[in-house]
Amino acid sequence: MTGIDSKLKVLVDNGLKDLNHCSDEQAAETWHAKYLGRSGAIADLMRSIGQLDREDRPSAGQAANEAKATLEAAYLDRRGRLDESSLARRIEADRVDVTMPGRRLHDGGLHPITLTLRRILEIFRDMGFQVTEGPEVELDWYNFEALNIPAEHPARDMWDTFYVQPPSVLLRTHTSPNQARVMQRSKPPIRIVVPGRCYRYEAQDASHEWMFYQVEGLAVDAGLTMADLKGVLVAFAQRMFWPEVQCRFRCDYFPFVEPGMEMSVQCPICRGSGCRVCKMSGWIELLGAGMVHPQVLRNVGYDPDAVNGFAFGMGPERITMVKHAIDDIRLFYGNDLRFLKQFN
Ligand code: DAH
Repeated sequence: MTGIDSKLKVLVDNGLKDLNHCSDEQAAETWHAKYLGRSGAIADLMRSIGQLDREDRPSAGQAANEAKATLEAAYLDRRGRLDESSLARRIEADRVDVTMPGRRLHDGGLHPITLTLRRILEIFRDMGFQVTEGPEVELDWYNFEALNIPAEHPARDMWDTFYVQPPSVLLRTHTSPNQARVMQRSKPPIRIVVPGRCYRYEAQDASHEWMFYQVEGLAVDAGLTMADLKGVLVAFAQRMFWPEVQCRFRCDYFPFVEPGMEMSVQCPICRGSGCRVCKMSGWIELLGAGMVHPQVLRNVGYDPDAVNGFAFGMGPERITMVKHAIDDIRLFYGNDLRFLKQFN
């Protein structure tokens, strides 16, 4: 016996015991360096074999190799198990619950007034009208003066006005100023529709908003008649509502048309038999219209003896309200999704 055998036995026993306490990869590596590394315990022992008597060396060497193999196998086994458990831990941490319901994405939708505007413009485009736009901050001259509504004229009471820079700059109270703007920058024949926001200094209630939309229409040519105007408006109503809808024209006053009129259609809710929406009359007032006043033509440098025109103006809010039996205009701009979602 060289003593090497018992040293190896102690070494292997301690090594195996220590290894059992290694609970992570780092501890296992430290253990490996201590026992099996280049300057570890086994290597030390192997070096000391050189000092033994010649005949003892082979068996001591064999015993040392066996001890080394035992520790090596134990180490690999431990590493394997540590790797497995750390992988298991990572899998557990990254676990995804595939049964969990996803987060719902809400569909966006177009605003009911946008839908109505698009429909109105589509119908007029089909009849050969071009779509154009104008400024919301407008000059008094276009909003009133050019339209035959001079300062101090009592007709100004029809439009309660927000002034941006009194008395000459204001928020347009209607889209009619675009009649003058378009006529100034182009030559007849003209056929245009102008959608846009309008503003009025007004107390809000179920049928009044301080901001709302209008669509203005204007045609200028030689020899236009009231029949042309009525034909266009009836064709519009038949596509906007239903093909047999009846239209009613009655005299009305607007300073920029002569003669002026309003057009009513059969109530789309009761189709004329009388209901809450039309206040039992069977009719809904829809728009103002008329033949362009000669003074308006003169104001933009046109010769009323050479050309004439017709104009009309309507409110998409009102059209949407009668189509869907909505009784409060404030719903459109209250941003309540429960209301807005119903149109898409
Ligand atoms: N601008 C008018 C309003 O806001 C509506 C209107 C009436 C427009 C008659 C027109 C028209 O073009 O001919 O009350």
